[in-house]
Amino acid sequence: MNIALDIQHVTLTFADGQARRVTALDDVSLRLGRGEIAAITGPSGSGKSSLLAVASTLIRPDNGHVYLWTGEGRTDITGLSGRDAAAVRRGEIGFVFQQSNLVSSLTALEQLEVTAHLGQSLVVPRRRRRQTRDRAMELLDAVGLIDQRDQKPGQLSGGQRQRVNLARALMNDPGLLVVDEPTSALDQERGAAIIDLIVGVVRDHQAATLLVTHDRTHFAKMDSVYQVTDGVLTDAPGGALLKRR
Ligand SMILES: Nc1ncnc2c1ncn2[C@@H]1O[C@H](COP(=O)(O)OP(=O)(O)OP(=O)(O)O)[C@@H](O)[C@H]1O
Ligand SMILES: [Mg+2]
Repeated sequence: MNIALDIQHVTLTFADGQARRVTALDDVSLRLGRGEIAAITGPSGSGKSSLLAVASTLIRPDNGHVYLWTGEGRTDITGLSGRDAAAVRRGEIGFVFQQSNLVSSLTALEQLEVTAHLGQSLVVPRRRRRQTRDRAMELLDAVGLIDQRDQKPGQLSGGQRQRVNLARALMNDPGLLVVDEPTSALDQERGAAIIDLIVGVVRDHQAATLLVTHDRTHFAKMDSVYQVTDGVLTDAPGGALLKRR
């Protein structure tokens, strides 16, 4: 297996506001290969979003390590400064959350372009702008929204907004994609279409993907299925049977 993400013995606690601590992640280890999709399921408050946050540098765990393979080889992202972590997020990680967090004044195409130019100088060379536009168009095409490229979020359906969100997350060609309940604001049919789309583009782009979902009907499309219960990660019941590798 060509490893993309290796989470080793991660523990994360939060202050609960009453001088006690909640254990959000309890000695969690997980390995993901390039282009693999792992589904994460489990009850509300069990630690699923915390796992994604730790895997994507948003939260530093109390203990354990998270290794991410980037263009520069293996990086322990738990040891990075805030600035370096931000650079890793910008360059290597794509995010898709439940709410699409699109900028209301920008068209679908502009949402993708702006993301690509984040962190760069204010004056972007023309050649670079053209490359960015080409990639944005290619991704909008991949998610079936080329005809909606000039529409703003208010002119798109929930499912279409989530497609823009997914295309935007892929702009930096991420080695790691973290996806948190992308279908919970959608009906069953549109939700299934988004999951199929994620599975397709993730395989094309070879992005290791952690996907939080409650919908068991999608599990068969994943490479592995894990369950988080009170911060403890286990193979989901029946999940091992679904493993293709
Ligand atoms: N910033 C925080 N401060 C304090 N406690 C937190 C914080 N974030 C999460 N928690 C706690 O950590 C635990 C795990 O939360 P997490 O958000 O990871 O759960 P989840 O499985 O994603 O739940 P849901 O399905 O409802 O999204 C919960 O007990 C939650 O209250
Ligand atoms: Mg959550």
